[in-house]
Amino acid sequence: MTTALVPGSFDPPTRGHIDVIARCVGIFDRVVVGVVLNPSKQAMFTSERRVEMLRDACSDWDNVEFVAFDGLLVDCAREVGAEVIVKGLRAMTDFDYELQLAQMNRHLSGIVTMFVATAPALGYLSSSLVKEVSRLGGDVDDLVPPMVAAALKERRDDD
Ligand code: PNS
Repeated sequence: MTTALVPGSFDPPTRGHIDVIARCVGIFDRVVVGVVLNPSKQAMFTSERRVEMLRDACSDWDNVEFVAFDGLLVDCAREVGAEVIVKGLRAMTDFDYELQLAQMNRHLSGIVTMFVATAPALGYLSSSLVKEVSRLGGDVDDLVPPMVAAALKERRDDD
């Protein structure tokens, strides 16, 4: 049984994230989505809300689990029994930093990182851009799962 850990801030989850999880669902026996509790930037959504949105978007799959984690990613990987960390790569601009993280994580734990190329149609997507477009009144319904679109609208209406 092979377990993959798919980590991220997911603030909020986008269709790009769900696409990477979908690819893992078809490859690994068990997929654990790891939501970092305190992303480097101030989060728009709490980790509980981010897990809730991910759970809703992944409800068709029965081999996906969710965990919120703090501290080192490799400690989370050990705790959930993951042999592999999976990251999505959108472009070469992601690559330098992701390679550095992958090599540090391997140094720390021996756990390897595998990269999934995002679908070409989703390569321009990022949580930050989605938040900005939504905040400024743009339509993001096609870019995020339905629960995320609703949450972003709610947030905009409250502001
Ligand atoms: O979606 P993101 O913001 O690109 O996810 C980044 C994440 C959560 C994968 C990264 O910040 C991370 O690994 N955080 C855990 C802290 C850690 O292990 N740092 C050392 C990395 S070598």
